Amino acid sequence: MSEALDYLMQARPEAMQAYFKFLKLAGQRLDPRTRAIISVITKVDNQTPAGFRQYLKRALQEGVSAAEILDALLLAFPTLGLTKIVWAVDQLLEMDLPEFRLAASQQGKTDLPVWRDLVRFAELQSDRIHCFAANGRHVFVTLRDGEALVWDGVCPHRQIHFKPEDVTGETLVCHGHGHVFDLRTGLGVANTGESLRRLESRVCGEHLQITGG
Ligand code: FES
Repeated sequence: MSEALDYLMQARPEAMQAYFKFLKLAGQRLDPRTRAIISVITKVDNQTPAGFRQYLKRALQEGVSAAEILDALLLAFPTLGLTKIVWAVDQLLEMDLPEFRLAASQQGKTDLPVWRDLVRFAELQSDRIHCFAANGRHVFVTLRDGEALVWDGVCPHRQIHFKPEDVTGETLVCHGHGHVFDLRTGLGVANTGESLRRLESRVCGEHLQITGG
């Protein structure tokens, strides 16, 4: 929360609590991904860099793909106009998020993203965490309600690459500084506020695929 909102929460708690309750109720029939996309677009419309970056990361965490973010930006063209869309893309480029990087094979092309086979989906077991080498590091896969969640093997604390031996059961303890993560949810355990980055994935034919290079 910004310093200004924090101030208003203290100075006008009833009004501000009602405002936040309104926001929560207003989106309750939307799924989390749709809510996240709409929030990103509102931040682009307002051109608030901190809010845009915060809500973009939240959207990616909810499983929204880079391609969907770009689609939403273009779909909102009638209200955003090219200037605000370019502003948003400038923000994306400054953030240097892997999801939005063009693979070498895509330089000069416009068709995002490049998908790569990670594993045959049928080989995934719901009662264990799977570890695979991909994109120059390791990624971790778990099944939740039949859906594969793929966690990037980079620690959000200091961006070192996790090792397979950091994992015990469903828990990952970073060999860097000991931060602990639940591989079922991607959330930090004691280090609340940190979470693993969820990679974009899909099932294509028999394979689970991820993007990136
Ligand atoms: S780099 Fe992982 S805990 Fe510090």
